[in-house]
Amino acid sequence: MQTDNASKAPVPKHLAIVMDGNGRWARSRHLPRTEGHRRGVNSARAVIEACAQRGVEVLTLFAFSSENWRRPESEVSALMELFITALRREIGTLAAKGIRMRFIGAREAFTVRLQAAMTEAEVRTRDNHVMTLVVAVNYGGRWDITQAAEHMKLEEVAQESHETALASGLATAGLPDPDLFIRTGGERRLSNFLLWQLAYTELYFTDVLWPDFDVAELDQAFVDYGRRQRRFGRTGEQVESRV
Ligand code: IPE
Ligand code: IPE
Ligand code: MG
Repeated sequence: MQTDNASKAPVPKHLAIVMDGNGRWARSRHLPRTEGHRRGVNSARAVIEACAQRGVEVLTLFAFSSENWRRPESEVSALMELFITALRREIGTLAAKGIRMRFIGAREAFTVRLQAAMTEAEVRTRDNHVMTLVVAVNYGGRWDITQAAEHMKLEEVAQESHETALASGLATAGLPDPDLFIRTGGERRLSNFLLWQLAYTELYFTDVLWPDFDVAELDQAFVDYGRRQRRFGRTGEQVESRV
């Protein structure tokens, strides 16, 4: 339920979420971990819809990290199956809602079938403007910076524009940096998510496990975000005097 406070809260332009806690959610119910992932898709659907309604311009969801290959093979393959079924099932609705899809991460590690489904979703939604949904799969912040640096080396960029050039080689090129980062599931860490892009992002951690994270929880995070003063190195007085 959306509270009055929530409806007045400023909304981040770019929200990035680490959707964590699926396994523990399932374990506490004596269910297989994969059931937690399946339920996590429902949370993602609700959050995507609410973000689009509230005017979020970019939503980035961390779905699979470059380190998640270390999980048991059975869990990894169940996750891959879930990605492809969820993508095929949801793409029509997402496209109809005006959502543009973009995937970030080293996608060549995936099956041809999954890579094709990702490209198809991007092509199908490329003219949509309501919200950009970025899904990070086989993504790692260090991978991102490394590949941007390699790209920059090839381009032989002039000394003074290194920072801009590096940013333009990142997987998120063309998107604003996240304003708000949410991590569910109780851990207070980045787990190699958008390392470069999170430099000035407001961080929000909640113990709520991802399958239990609903629109009310999202609104609570937005209210909290609305209370932050973003200073970017300036003093509080300077920020207040800038109307
Ligand atoms: C996050 O939930 C989903 C992925 C990493 C794919 P987890 O599976 O990490 O859940 P916990 O942390 O074990 O509870
Ligand atoms: C981060 O969660 C990755 C995703 C949510 C996709 P993890 O559960 O993999 O993170 P760690 O291993 O606990 O740091
Ligand atoms: Mg986890």
